[in-house]
Amino acid sequence: MAKSKLLITFITLFILSCSVSAVPLKLLSPFRVGFYSQSCPPAEFIVQKYVSKFVRLNPGLAAGIIRLHFHDCFVRGCDASVLLDGPNSEKESIPNKGSLRGFEIIDAAKAELEIRCPGVVSCADILAFAARDSAWKVGNIYYQVPSGRRDGNVSLILDPLLNLPPPFFNATALRDNFARKGLTLDEMVTLSGAHSIGISHCTSFSTRLYPTVDPTLDPKYAAFLKTICPPPVNGTTTVNPTTNLDSLTPKILDNKYYVGLKLNKGLFTSDQTLYNSPLTKKIVLNNAQYGYTWATKFAAAMVKMGKIDVLTGTDKGEIRKKCNLVN
Ligand code: HEM
Ligand SMILES: *[C@@H]1O[C@H](CO)[C@@H](O)[C@H](O)[C@H]1NC(C)=O
Ligand SMILES: *[C@@H]1O[C@H](CO)[C@@H](O)[C@H](O)[C@H]1NC(C)=O
Ligand SMILES: *[C@@H]1O[C@H](CO)[C@@H](O)[C@H](O)[C@H]1NC(C)=O
Repeated sequence: MAKSKLLITFITLFILSCSVSAVPLKLLSPFRVGFYSQSCPPAEFIVQKYVSKFVRLNPGLAAGIIRLHFHDCFVRGCDASVLLDGPNSEKESIPNKGSLRGFEIIDAAKAELEIRCPGVVSCADILAFAARDSAWKVGNIYYQVPSGRRDGNVSLILDPLLNLPPPFFNATALRDNFARKGLTLDEMVTLSGAHSIGISHCTSFSTRLYPTVDPTLDPKYAAFLKTICPPPVNGTTTVNPTTNLDSLTPKILDNKYYVGLKLNKGLFTSDQTLYNSPLTKKIVLNNAQYGYTWATKFAAAMVKMGKIDVLTGTDKGEIRKKCNLVN
């Protein structure tokens, strides 16, 4: 009698604890959509406001922000390490120096957020929100961004070269690089569609023009690129102009990038290889044909990229007061 009562009490308590804790635990997850809905309700709106304002004046900054988020997440996880200043910081590395842009959007949003909700919204989250808002502005692509990232304290000049893929990689090397970050082959090809907007400096692709033109590059397109990029003088270049990454619709984030690859108009080896390699060709053809499917996959892959090695909770990282400096 007493024993079975005890058993029933235990079973009841067990069932109760399951049903009671399941929902709040999920609500209290330190990394979730709407993380700031109580602590700083206007957070996402404020970021969106500055993205709109700056991108209206300079549409290229949308590309800059999306690339910043990529370079943040692939190096020490999405912890805003790419935003830190310092003589030996990530900013000073070859993949980043002189080509990253959009910092002023992050700084403007952070300045207002520190007035409205001091010490609450991380720079890593601001960057993730801003990348989402940029994709919306220049591509009509929308997705929800889980937040609750915290900012790291470490930014090392060597890390970008060790983690970011260079533009001369082939398809298998790209696959392996993305796999190390937990991203699939399809996600690698799909995220490369970000090269549907933005610009590149000549130094990122001039080995495809000089001394001889890469046979996988459309000859007319190569001739055009040569008019923009001067040949190196005694192995060094003094000027470093820029050109659009996507020659078909350079200002719209869309699937025309993949159509360009079919025309041998991929600017980097790492772009053209996606069409030329049997490993990824079918994915390129699909993305070229089905724009809506690509956009949906792109949104999902951006969310997944935004989860790489995030710092959450309270034990690790901090909420920076200024995005270019640790507290
Ligand atoms: C697949 C491997 C990738 C390689 C090898 C690569 C390489 C590069 C290079 C060399 C540039 C030009 C830098 C310059 O010379 O100014 C560039 C630009 C850019 N990349 Fe990538 N990238 C890759 C993937 C990605 C991903 C995953 C994203 C974002 C989801 C991205 C977004 C961008 C954007 C938007 C630009 C233009 C930036 C601007 O206009 O300021 N890239 N990329
Ligand atoms: C791709 O690049 C890797 C590393 O540079 C190389 O070992 C491999 O042979 C290349 N694969 C192809 C198909 O060219
Ligand atoms: C390039 O190097 C060669 C031999 O080293 C030299 O004669 C020539 O003047 C150099 N050209 C320029 C433009 O510096
Ligand atoms: C960064 O520094 C702060 C303050 O010193 C510390 O509380 C935090 O744990 C550090 N974060 C990381 C990721 O090391």
